Order: sequence, then structure tokens, then C-alpha cells
Amino acid sequence: MNGHSPNAWEGSRVMIVGSMGFIGGFIAEASLECGHPTYLLIRPELASLSKASTIKSLQDRGATTIYGSIKDQDLMEKVIREHKIEIVISAVGGASIADQVKLVNAIKAAGTVKRFLPSEFGHDIDRADPVEPGLTMYKEKRQVRRYIEEAGIPYTYICCNSIAAWPYHDNTHPADVPPPLDRFQIYGDGTVKAYFVAGSDIGKFTIKSIDDNRTLNKTVHFRPPSNLLSTNELASLWEEKLGYKLPRVTITEDDLLAAAREMRIPQSIVAAITHDIFINSCQTNYSMDQPNDVDVCSLYPELPFRTVDECFNDFAVKMISNPKLVNKPANKNGTMMPNPKPEALFITA
Ligand SMILES: NC(=O)c1ccc[n+]([C@@H]2O[C@H](COP(=O)([O-])OP(=O)(O)OC[C@H]3O[C@@H](n4cnc5c(N)ncnc54)[C@H](OP(=O)(O)O)[C@@H]3O)[C@@H](O)[C@H]2O)c1
Repeated sequence: MNGHSPNAWEGSRVMIVGSMGFIGGFIAEASLECGHPTYLLIRPELASLSKASTIKSLQDRGATTIYGSIKDQDLMEKVIREHKIEIVISAVGGASIADQVKLVNAIKAAGTVKRFLPSEFGHDIDRADPVEPGLTMYKEKRQVRRYIEEAGIPYTYICCNSIAAWPYHDNTHPADVPPPLDRFQIYGDGTVKAYFVAGSDIGKFTIKSIDDNRTLNKTVHFRPPSNLLSTNELASLWEEKLGYKLPRVTITEDDLLAAAREMRIPQSIVAAITHDIFINSCQTNYSMDQPNDVDVCSLYPELPFRTVDECFNDFAVKMISNPKLVNKPANKNGTMMPNPKPEALFITA
């Protein structure tokens, strides 16, 4: 079925841009889970082959698919108006951040939208200050924020910090990759902490926030105290799952800056942001003292976050059920990764 059931609970009508992507996928799942009438904007060139089964499964759960691009302002305005869209959530990737200006224009013209969540889903980009090329992406995100505010569009900015996974400095989607099996790359002295949030919780708490008056025109920070870990602590946790120790290699500040200077996109953006997190402490070096700051944990104290321990258990279980994940070359030199010890993985799972 393509479309929500007429008998379902009628939550706000949500349009999600980027649901075939990494972060957008979690948001689409959460929106459907909560019973919102959910409209997925999908680029037409994608409506084939590789993503067809994902689209079909979301449609089967009640999602309505709409084909188009946010670059097409007239189409966006028409779609928003025709479907009486109330909430727009954008999770477009780094290359499309600036194109959201057209989406803002369409939202303003349509006049039905009571909340817009632009593609943020990381740090508080008005506070954090990474080196290039991370800075260019942050500048674009800042420009989108200012454009939304000047247009008078009601908004919520989601600052969910890091995804709960090993923080590879050269991979935009580390949650798609298991933590290391050959060696840990430890940033600096490995003591700087970051907030690691499960993708499903990024989706869940984003969707919680969309209808909440307390998040209107606010920056929502995901800072669950239980998920604040250093890379040293992450490494020890993963070693518990493996049942054996791995060597630790130091990646210095200079190494990260050199990787950023290579200007390989997107890897250098990730290196710049990794430097900001684990050298500059950008997730923890400020207090939430601005009037527009809101802590998601204080909004929903009754709702637990998944712990990093639980997320690492998921990786362990996935690796046991799919040994190909661990037997393929781990790095560009083609070094084979060792198999984890299933008994150890199960003992701690
Ligand atoms: N906190 C974290 O750890 C973390 C990690 C990664 C990303 N992020 C942030 O999360 C946000 C999303 O990043 P991502 O990595 O999830 O992106 P992604 O995987 O590249 O997915 C982006 C999605 O947006 C769609 N899209 C791009 N341009 C579009 C357009 N003009 N019209 C309609 N759809 C369009 C893409 O469609 P196609 O499939 O057709 O390309 C894709 O589905 C970014 O702001 C990023 O900085 C945060």
C-alpha cells in the first residue's frame, strides 16, 4: 500500500526529505512507528533497483512516496500544499545543505507547515568551529539557520552529537561498519569524551520533538550522561565483547589535521569534525546556557536512551550472524581481519 490507513491515529502530517539516506532512514522508521502520516520525498533517479525494496517496505508500513527534489521549489510548494504537510524534516547530505534554501521558500509560500527541522543532526554549528573542510559545511548549515529565522519559519534544530559506533575518522557512516577487529585508532590521548547516540534514538527523539511546544524555535541537544564516553572507554567496551585485547595506535592532532588538509570529500570533512570532537572537545566544552537551548533528557526523562553497550552488542550479534562482515579486508592494504570469538561475544551480549 502506498499511503497511510484512514483509520490510523492522525498525528501531524510529516514529510521527510532524505529517507533513503543514513540519518533520514532512522527518522522515517520513527515517524511510521509513532503513527504519523508520513510522506517520503525521494529523488526520482533513486526510485529504481537498489532502494526499491526499502521503499516498498516503508510503503507497506503506510508511508506515502513522493518523487522530486528540493531543488524544484515549485514542486515542493505544490506537494506541501496538496498534502497539507505540517512538519518538514530534512536529512539531506553534506552536498545538498545549501539547496534547503529552496525548500524554505516553498515552506513559506505553502503556509501549512508548523515546524521545519533542517538537516543538522550533529553538533551545535553556531558553537562548534572545526577546521576546513568541516567549516565550510558548518557555514552552509549556519546560513540555512539564518535563512529560516529571517523567513519566520517555526523550527527545531536537532544536535544529536555522534552516532553510537566506532568513530572512524574517514567514514561518514560509521554505524554501518563494525568496530575494529585489528587495532584501535585512538585520537590524541584518548580521554576526550563524546556523546554516542543510537541511530534509532536519533529517530525516536527527533520525532518526539516535532509536536512539542517546548522545542519550538529551540536547539535540542542530545546529551545522555550514560552515553558520554572517551575513545579509550569505547575501546575497552569493545574488547569486552571480543573477549581479547587489541593494539592501540595513536592518531595525533597533527594526523587528523593532515587528513583534513587533504581535502578529500567527504573523508576530510569527517577528519575535521573528528578533530573538533576528540581534540577540541566540541561536544562538551560549553554549557547549555542560551535561552534557545533545550536538553532532550530533561524533556523526556521517562524515555531511556539505548546505551553504547547495547549498541555494541548489536554489532557483535550482527558479526556472528554474518561472518562476511569480519572476513573481508579491513583496510586499503587488504589486511584480513581476525574472527571475533563467538563465545566471548555471546557472554557479554
Ligand atoms: N551525527 C552523526 O554522526 C552524523 C552522521 C552522518 C551524517 N550526519 C548529518 O546528518 C545529515 C544527513 O546526512 P546523511 O549522511 O544521513 O546523508 P546521506 O546518507 O547522504 O543521505 C542524504 C539523503 O538526502 C537525499 N537528498 C540529497 N539531495 C536531495 C535533494 N536535492 N532532494 C531530495 N533528496 C535529496 C539523498 O537522496 P539520494 O539517495 O538520491 O542521494 C539521500 O537520501 C547531514 O546534515 C549530516 O551532516 C550526522
